[in-house]
Amino acid sequence: MMQNKINLGLVFGGRSGEHAVSLRSSRSVRSVLDPARYNVFEIGITLEGKWLSGENALSAFENSDTGSLQAVSLLSSDGKVGLYRHQGDKLQLITELDVIFPVLHGTFGEDGTIQGLFEILNVAYVGAGVLASAACMDKAVCKDLAQSAGIPVLPYRVFSRSQITDYLEEVITLSEAVSAYPLFVKPANLGSSVGISKAGRREELRVALLKAARFDRRVLVERGIDAREIEISVLGNDNPLVSVPGEIVPEDVFYTYKDKYLSGDPETIIPAPFDAKLTRKIQEYALRAYRAVDGAGLSRVDFLVDKHSGELFLSEINTMPGFTSISMYPKLWKASGLEYPDLVDRLIALALERKADQDKTVRRYED
Ligand SMILES: Nc1ncnc2c1ncn2[C@@H]1O[C@H](COP(=O)(O)OP(=O)(O)O)[C@@H](O)[C@H]1O
Ligand SMILES: [Mg+2]
Repeated sequence: MMQNKINLGLVFGGRSGEHAVSLRSSRSVRSVLDPARYNVFEIGITLEGKWLSGENALSAFENSDTGSLQAVSLLSSDGKVGLYRHQGDKLQLITELDVIFPVLHGTFGEDGTIQGLFEILNVAYVGAGVLASAACMDKAVCKDLAQSAGIPVLPYRVFSRSQITDYLEEVITLSEAVSAYPLFVKPANLGSSVGISKAGRREELRVALLKAARFDRRVLVERGIDAREIEISVLGNDNPLVSVPGEIVPEDVFYTYKDKYLSGDPETIIPAPFDAKLTRKIQEYALRAYRAVDGAGLSRVDFLVDKHSGELFLSEINTMPGFTSISMYPKLWKASGLEYPDLVDRLIALALERKADQDKTVRRYED
């Protein structure tokens, strides 16, 4: 008997600095979605936040030619979620959706906000839930959770924008108490190395703090080390699997936006050339961190290894990492024996499993 096809909403773009990266990740996902298994509905979110759909919506976004697309909304009715087209002041049902794959990075896509919308709509979706998405979007909260799970992180301190603008000298003094220079200064919330600086002395710290505070209300000051950069992929819900670790060899002083997205691919070494003991430790920490943040679906967990002491530190967790077929997350799975198309299928199955598990939750209490 033929199983029913799955109606899948592929959501891309978004109001984020990583809009363009999302289109690239989505193109890769789109190209491996088996038409025999999925009816795919392409839904793009513009940089201004408009939701648009139509056949070949992804191409339209790629070509910045969205004029022929239709405004759409997701609404729930009768316990199902529907994709509706706007017709004047009326709404017309296009289709019901079984699952949504939000291939969105960064703000409003990876930070728990759109996940909250999907929860309210009561629809299955790929990736982490509200809690893990929001917690991992904030580098400080993520580190706090990792640390309380016994995973080492570099010493850091968080300052608010108002502290930085109103009490800059005090903030500088407190920052210098975190560690000797160099210090890394980062907006808590952005990705792609935007707003991040390495400060080698007080004057640079001052500039770095003011710069980071433009990009977020919360700013981290962290001990800077001479680091090797390690990334590892986690996949699953309650029984997550972990890939082999990979190492990134940056071209620049640190792994910048340019390295990641503009100058092609930074060099990677997969698996990272570590002995079995360090490899196991990285894998163990990655799984522990994933559980600590209540990860689901997927995450890429990033570590720094001190080049001199060999010490290992968790750096950050990305709940929707770059997902083109040549991005680190899928490459680590490929090296671990899971091909990209199977990875995409697995993620969709995990989304449906997680929804089924959520549906078991008792939500009415009667005596
Ligand atoms: N404490 C640190 N010591 C040394 N290098 C760091 C440190 N923090 C960040 N970096 C470098 O900066 C890059 C970007 O920082 P990261 O926290 O990963 O932000 P993003 O969200 O932009 O990926 C890292 O990949 C690494 O190269
Ligand atoms: Mg990073």
